[in-house]
Amino acid sequence: MAAEWKELLPASDLRPGNVLEISHEGVDLLVFRTQSGTLRAMDAYCPHMRNYIPNGIREGQGLGSLLDGEELICPFHNWRFDGLGRCTGIPSGQRVPSRIAAGKRIGTSWPLRETLGVIQIGAPTKISA
Ligand code: FES
Repeated sequence: MAAEWKELLPASDLRPGNVLEISHEGVDLLVFRTQSGTLRAMDAYCPHMRNYIPNGIREGQGLGSLLDGEELICPFHNWRFDGLGRCTGIPSGQRVPSRIAAGKRIGTSWPLRETLGVIQIGAPTKISA
């Protein structure tokens, strides 16, 4: 079956280093474009403790403060995410769960593509067993 793509937003609304909160089909997402221009969409609730990630942003900082190059950092405990469902880093001194140590996906992500000036979204990629 061919993947179904749906229009999400104009590509000009998401520049490198930008992060947007978007509700898509009843799910709260963080949609971002990394510094190198890669598009990513992940669940806005952190896979660690299910905190709503933007709620951890310090006063006066914007959503873009969540990005560090190619990774999104949850401000609650500073876990890093690749936007493809994987945690890419946990600060030293915090316990690293075995699923993360094994490189398994711990979060849901959505594929994005840009075509004719529009960012489209596909079906979510669920957490593997
Ligand atoms: S709740 Fe996100 S890193 Fe802990």
